[in-house]
Amino acid sequence: MTPNWDVTATWTYHDATKHSWESVRTNPHGLDWENYPLAFKIYSTLEPLPLPHEWPPVSLETFSAIAGTSADQNDERIPDLLTLAKLLFLSAGITKRRTYSGGEMYFRAAACTGALYHIDLYLVCGELSDLPAGVYHFGPHDFALRCLRLGDYRPVLIQASSEEPAVARAPALLVCTSTYWRNAWKYQARTYRHCFWDAGTVLANMLAAGAALKLPMRIVAGFADGVVNQLLDLDTDREGALALVPVGSSARSAPDTAPAIEPLHLPTVPLSQTEVDYPAIRAMHTASTVTADEVLSWRGTFSARPVSPPTGQLFPLVPLGVQELPEGGLEHVIRHRGSSRAFALETITFAQLSTILLQATGGVSADFLEPVGTTLTSLYLIVNAVDELPAGTYVFRRERKALELLQEGHLRREAGYLGLGQELPADASVNIYCLVELPPILERFGNRGYRAAQLEAAIIGGKVYLAAYSLRLAATGLTFFDDEVTQFFSPHAAGRSVMFLTAVGKPAKRRVGISQ
Ligand SMILES: Cc1cc2nc3c(=O)[nH]c(=O)nc-3n(C[C@H](O)[C@H](O)[C@H](O)COP(=O)(O)O)c2cc1C
Repeated sequence: MTPNWDVTATWTYHDATKHSWESVRTNPHGLDWENYPLAFKIYSTLEPLPLPHEWPPVSLETFSAIAGTSADQNDERIPDLLTLAKLLFLSAGITKRRTYSGGEMYFRAAACTGALYHIDLYLVCGELSDLPAGVYHFGPHDFALRCLRLGDYRPVLIQASSEEPAVARAPALLVCTSTYWRNAWKYQARTYRHCFWDAGTVLANMLAAGAALKLPMRIVAGFADGVVNQLLDLDTDREGALALVPVGSSARSAPDTAPAIEPLHLPTVPLSQTEVDYPAIRAMHTASTVTADEVLSWRGTFSARPVSPPTGQLFPLVPLGVQELPEGGLEHVIRHRGSSRAFALETITFAQLSTILLQATGGVSADFLEPVGTTLTSLYLIVNAVDELPAGTYVFRRERKALELLQEGHLRREAGYLGLGQELPADASVNIYCLVELPPILERFGNRGYRAAQLEAAIIGGKVYLAAYSLRLAATGLTFFDDEVTQFFSPHAAGRSVMFLTAVGKPAKRRVGISQ
């Protein structure tokens, strides 16, 4: 048995990193500002290859972009450098600079826990019209690529994914990685969850940008870790590859073999004076690794348990009509987004909530979500203030496009408590929780199912963010008390685990800052 199938590793990690009132109150961990990690991976010896940075705004209406349906996987579409620059910027580029007493903060296209930005993007491409075949790192700090290897290394990823069809057709691929310490500085071992949360928000943006740029794209979570980490020359004690994203599609196939992968040992700028190792992160990542031989049977269909018929009152969704949607292109929305630091105690409309839910749950093209439309997640809501909807708890009935009322009541206090005692979830109009039933997911996908579940939930959360912004509403990701959330939504949610939380509401007068 390979480590992936001993799923006690997932339970050990998941249970050990749950938040509870007690665990948060008694955790002695303080923030060591002297040792604050650099938010960028900077290769100190590689020459930057500046990316083009001027273009007319990418303007597909955000709503069609979030749904992400505009490009067919088989369309012949080969990106050039400008297209890749747009995609990288809209996924992980710097969109805002803010000066504080302690220095300057650079905010990015996608939300990230603690604004610590531990997710990096690498590009692996064949020969493009204006970029030689190679392996490149994207540096948001100077909006440039740096070439780690010249040559067409796509066969490495094709083999690592066991010839996943979108990977095999891709002229270019992006790989998401995390350098754990950059997030673990604050969040300790819980960072392994954040790897997928923060990659998920980046990927939600990337999928929307891909749709706007008419690039076929897909999330590939099943790949042989060892060889991908080697290709990117990652230091596997500190870093890991999380997901592959084939970008574009071409019948012109990659060569059968890639050049040899020599170790590079490229120096990078130190992140902080010292780094603390959290073995639980490495243990969970190792336990969820797979080999190329396993990948083929790993990916594919997932049959969720049949859903029981609703017993509570149903509220069929009533999304806004196309004419009623605010105008605004995707790039404008991403450039101006920011997580809400305070919500006004006001209502949003049921039509707005309906639109957000439908946008966010239209399906993610991923190798573990076959057939298209398959999902691992269920959405549970705490409705504080939505016009035409009684306050209370709900479960989203995806198959009926309706909300089922679980418990009516005014629950702002409880919402605040469950969201780690913060004001944001109490003041928001609605809290949208993604929950999953881990046992069947782990049975089907092994420990790597945990990665997949966190990732899909985070992509949905990232889509909620984008949909809310495009309706001129405010949103923020939030963390939560794990078991208490499950209990709160039970008996309906009994046996489920919380993966992601997004709160949505009306923006209050904007206060800038990072908290949580
Ligand atoms: C998964 C996730 C969880 C978050 N949790 C919290 C939270 O508990 N409290 C909070 O104030 N902000 C939270 N945030 C918001 C981040 O602090 C915010 O994204 C970050 O500071 C970057 O700012 P921006 O989103 O405005 O660009 C969360 C964001 C994400 C993506």
